[in-house]
Amino acid sequence: MARKVWITGGTGFIGSHTWVELAAKGYYRVFSTDNYLNSYPEVCRRIEAITGTRAVNYPVDIRDSDALREVLRREAPIDAVIHFAAFKAVGESMRHPLRYFDNNFIGLIRVLQMCKEFEIPHFIYSSSCTVYGSHTDEPVSEETPLGAPLSPYGLTKQAGEWMIRFAMREIPMNAVLLRYFNPAGAHPSGLLGEDPRVEDINLVPIIMRVAMGRRDELVIYGSDYPTRDGTCVRDYIHVVDLARAHVLALEYAINTLPSNALEVFNLGTEEGITVLEAVQTAEKITKRTIPHRMGQRREGDVPAIRSKVDKAHRVLGWRPQYTLEDIIKSAWEWEQHRTATSTHLPSSTTGSVANDRTKKDGV
Ligand SMILES: NC(=O)c1ccc[n+]([C@@H]2O[C@H](COP(=O)([O-])OP(=O)(O)OC[C@H]3O[C@@H](n4cnc5c(N)ncnc54)[C@H](O)[C@@H]3O)[C@@H](O)[C@H]2O)c1
Repeated sequence: MARKVWITGGTGFIGSHTWVELAAKGYYRVFSTDNYLNSYPEVCRRIEAITGTRAVNYPVDIRDSDALREVLRREAPIDAVIHFAAFKAVGESMRHPLRYFDNNFIGLIRVLQMCKEFEIPHFIYSSSCTVYGSHTDEPVSEETPLGAPLSPYGLTKQAGEWMIRFAMREIPMNAVLLRYFNPAGAHPSGLLGEDPRVEDINLVPIIMRVAMGRRDELVIYGSDYPTRDGTCVRDYIHVVDLARAHVLALEYAINTLPSNALEVFNLGTEEGITVLEAVQTAEKITKRTIPHRMGQRREGDVPAIRSKVDKAHRVLGWRPQYTLEDIIKSAWEWEQHRTATSTHLPSSTTGSVANDRTKKDGV
């Protein structure tokens, strides 16, 4: 029987890749609510090109109850929600905590209220390894105690987990919390990848933009961390591996997890990569020099974090299949395709891309 899945933030980086994986199964009917705060309408066209199915996104703000209610009335009954929509940049959250509290908390509250109102029985949540705070004794498992949040963004993810736990006292649903490590890479078709509006983005897309000549250089935040080369260590996970984990988590919530139960999974590769190692791999794959210089540490960053993921292996039957090289290769193919086809990029290959959120702040 076909299942109706509501994706919030479906035109964003991880949402769009998850949408593609769900569509490939053939028995999920997906719709999304995404107001393009950090994405573009053309993502729907890209999803359609890959899946051969229609991609329906309603451009509503998930904080707007009336607008949400109107969409959900049209789409009900709904079997599950995968809640991606949120702001996600640690650095930006240090400068604009209130903006992060507003979007990430109010957005989550509205989605939970709709779960209650529309009796949506399964909830999948985008959490993050930031919930662990600062841990030098890596790697971390789901049993590792959560640390004090180091950024407003980290606080929203950690508190979000607690909000879901408590909200379940009055919502008859089960929930799966997925703690992503560092998602990167792009769809193997080269047609879909990371394409944010904000400039304050993750490492791999910045490296790609430098390789492409759209940015002059990469600034590495901190070279004096207690790691093997002094730069931060992260656990990079291919976005397609991550998207597949969402499909498995959804199937687990629907078929196995008792109603009203909650389960948490780490999603990473267990492999720690330093920023300099990622740069070297990118130089090898793109065959371009990536100009970079060492900058100050960035507030909110932890020195090193790496996952233990045996629970996801054991319970969901999930194993990441892609390597760091695959991540960089796919991101590079996507960056070239994006440059050639995006309607919102300047045709020149130099200069940075303006965007609404950074323009307003003069960041
Ligand atoms: N990418 C990462 O590094 C990472 C790591 C850990 C956790 N996460 C979490 O995963 C989720 C998805 O991340 P992503 O990388 O796909 O981010 P993204 O910014 O690419 O996607 C989020 C989408 O949500 C939309 N959105 C934001 N606020 C909205 C609102 N109020 N109403 C409607 N739409 C709204 C944006 O337009 C965007 O398309 C987020 O919750 C993020 O915190 C991401």
